[in-house]
Amino acid sequence: MDSIRNMVDSDIPDVDGILMAAHLVQASYATILTRNFHLTPDSWWVLEQDGITTGVVGATDFGPFAHIGLMAIHPSRQSGGTGSKLLQYALDQLDQRGFESITLYSTDAGLAFYPRHGFRWQGISTEWKLRKRKPHSRHYKISKTTDLDRIIAVDRSVFGGNRLALLAALEAEAPGRILVAEDTAGTIQGFLVAQPKVLGPYMALSKQAAADLLDAALDLDYDGETRVALPDAHADAESLMAEAGFVPIRTSRYFIRGKAPAQQRQLMYGQAAYSLG
Ligand SMILES: CC(C)(COP(=O)(O)OP(=O)(O)OC[C@H]1O[C@@H](n2cnc3c(N)ncnc32)[C@H](O)[C@@H]1OP(=O)(O)O)[C@@H](O)C(=O)NCCC(=O)NCCS
Repeated sequence: MDSIRNMVDSDIPDVDGILMAAHLVQASYATILTRNFHLTPDSWWVLEQDGITTGVVGATDFGPFAHIGLMAIHPSRQSGGTGSKLLQYALDQLDQRGFESITLYSTDAGLAFYPRHGFRWQGISTEWKLRKRKPHSRHYKISKTTDLDRIIAVDRSVFGGNRLALLAALEAEAPGRILVAEDTAGTIQGFLVAQPKVLGPYMALSKQAAADLLDAALDLDYDGETRVALPDAHADAESLMAEAGFVPIRTSRYFIRGKAPAQQRQLMYGQAAYSLG
C-alpha cells in the first residue's frame, strides 16, 4: 500500500539513508537535507510503501518560482512508476500554490524522467574543483559582510527570486564567509558565499568582479576540495574557472517547468547546491 505525506523532522535519518543509497554515496546528506527542509518545511514529501519510507522530494520557495531538489527513490523500489507518482504529487501541490515555474538540476537518471512531467531541458551546469590555484591581480575591493539586505537588493534582479532566508541560513551555519565586491563608489559588483565545501551562491556583474571574489574566497580554509557548480556553463564562468586553476568534474542539466524565471544567468557563477540552484 503506497501513501504520500508531508515530511517531518523525525523522517530525516530514513530520508538520508534513501538519498545515500539512491546516489551511491557514503557521505551523509543530513546537514543539507535539514537546512533545505527547514527553509520551506511545507514543501517536502515522503513516499511510504508497506509502512516503509522509500522516497523523498522537496522544493524551496524563492517567491515567483520553486526549485526542486533531493528527489530520490530507494534503489530497491525504483521503476514501475514509483518516482513518477511521488513527483506528480509534489507538482500538483506546488501548482496549487501558484508558482510561475518550477526549476531543478538533474542527474543523468532524470534526463528522460523529468520531461515526462512537463519539464523542458534548458541548459548545462558544470561542476569544477580546484586543482592548482593561479596568481590573480584584484581590481575591486573585497570584504566580508553580514548585511544581507544589501546583497539581496542586487541578487533579486540576477537570481529572479528571494534568497534572503537561504543566505541567513548559510551565514548561521558558517559565519563570516560571505564576501562582497564593491567599486570605488561602494556599489556592489557581486557576492560569493564561501561555504566550507562549495562556493555559492556566487554572482557578479562582470567577469573581473567574479575573478576577484573567487581569488579572495580561495584565501579561506575549506573542508576538503574547493568546488563550484556553475548554474549555467556560460563562457565567462567556464573560462574563469579554468584560468583560476579549477578543472571540470561533473555535468548536470537544468530543467524548467512553466515560464522561465526572470534571471540573468550570464551573471550567475555558483549554485548554493544542486538542490537549491
Ligand atoms: C530518478 C528517480 C527518482 C526515478 O524514480 P523511479 O521510481 O525509477 O521512476 P519511474 O519508475 O516513475 O520512472 C522511471 C524512469 O526514470 C528514468 N530512470 C530511472 N533510473 C534511471 C537510470 N539509472 N538511468 C537513466 N534513466 C533512469 C527512466 O526514464 C525511467 O523510465 P524507463 O524505465 O521507462 O526507461 C530514481 O531513479 C532515483 O532515485 N535515481 C537516483 C537518484 C537520482 O538520480 N535522482 C534524480 C536526481 S535529479
